[in-house]
Amino acid sequence: MNIIVTGGAGFIGSNFIFHLLRKYPDYRIICLDKLTYAGNLSTLKSVMNNAHFRFVKADICDRKAVETLFEEEKPDIVVNFAAESHVDRSIETPEIFLQTNIIGTAVLMDTCRKYGIQRYHQVSTDEVYGDLPLDRPDLFFTETTPLHTSSPYSSSKAGADLLVLAYYRTYGLPVTISRCSNNYGPYHFPEKLIPLMIANALNDKPLPVYGEGINVRDWLYVEDHCKAIDLIIHNGKVGEIYNVGGHNEMRNIDIVKLICRKLGKSESLITFVKDRKGHDMRYAIDPTKIHQELGWLPETKFEDGIQKTIRWYLENRKWWEDIISGEYRNYYEKMYSNR
Ligand code: NAD
Ligand code: TYD
Repeated sequence: MNIIVTGGAGFIGSNFIFHLLRKYPDYRIICLDKLTYAGNLSTLKSVMNNAHFRFVKADICDRKAVETLFEEEKPDIVVNFAAESHVDRSIETPEIFLQTNIIGTAVLMDTCRKYGIQRYHQVSTDEVYGDLPLDRPDLFFTETTPLHTSSPYSSSKAGADLLVLAYYRTYGLPVTISRCSNNYGPYHFPEKLIPLMIANALNDKPLPVYGEGINVRDWLYVEDHCKAIDLIIHNGKVGEIYNVGGHNEMRNIDIVKLICRKLGKSESLITFVKDRKGHDMRYAIDPTKIHQELGWLPETKFEDGIQKTIRWYLENRKWWEDIISGEYRNYYEKMYSNR
């Protein structure tokens, strides 16, 4: 099996590549990544010399580059993680989100149509459903909840999802979509809540909590998300959407306080800052469908996952310090200048 994983130098894509190479040693995994500010080739260091792995630096919007790769590799499956993924950046500069998240998805699917494919899988997000009110804990997102987006990021992901469903209905492209809740774990870029708070706390820097910190996210350990996608690409039904989440709702402020406690840092580092524009209140996934149809259940409890994650950031200080200093951007040149 040849699998192209786009966005594999980012947080979830890299964890997915490690998962595939571990579980399917005879598969060939090709990572296609543009190495934007969020892509970090040093993340893939441990697999760069694996004979079953290939890294290609390219933009998913670059039709020619994508077609050339398909001609060379004849992939059976494409899993699209490549995206602009940070809500705050989308509020500042929406256009690149439309370009990568929507146009890039179209280019990948056009190429899948042209060369033939067993499966195109779109990695989407629960943010396409908008948010839920804090005073209705009985409500959850199901696969039939209407799309109702809040940010340019979530709107671009919803646009991509609609396009994926259109390619299924119009052209019969064999697609699946997963919509997962917030992930956490190793290699999470330190602009997102959990890694930012860990890095800042370790550097005794202020911990910027938006608004009152009462917004709720439904946190899932990244490995559990990878296992869900693995099940969907192998056993999921073509044309279907699967919600992925582990019923683990937490308020932002409680996460930040927990990180302070685990690191032995004072809560006086917490600084309440101006709220995010259009800030979604609560996300909460109903994962009944993927559980009943594919037998998926989350395996990592939050207490264990956050402990593992904090330990990883303590043991891999260079990884995130190089990001903060900008040094990671030189890694590609170092790796590829003589190749
Ligand atoms: P990330 O920002 O850490 O990584 C994105 C990767 O995509 C980077 O390696 C980047 O270089 C690459 N990329 C960006 N634009 C590209 C382009 N035009 N061509 C090729 N590569 C490009 O993101 P992440 O958190 O790993 O998220 C991966 C996917 O999962 C995204 O589609 C995101 O919407 C989705 N998702 C994320 C979460 C979460 O909690 N992080 C939850 C649900 C869904
Ligand atoms: P984030 O990690 O950006 O994920 P998303 O917005 O996609 O859910 O943010 C998670 C929550 O944490 C969100 O409610 C915004 C909040 N947040 C802060 O309070 N401070 C921060 O510095 C960041 C990055 C996020």
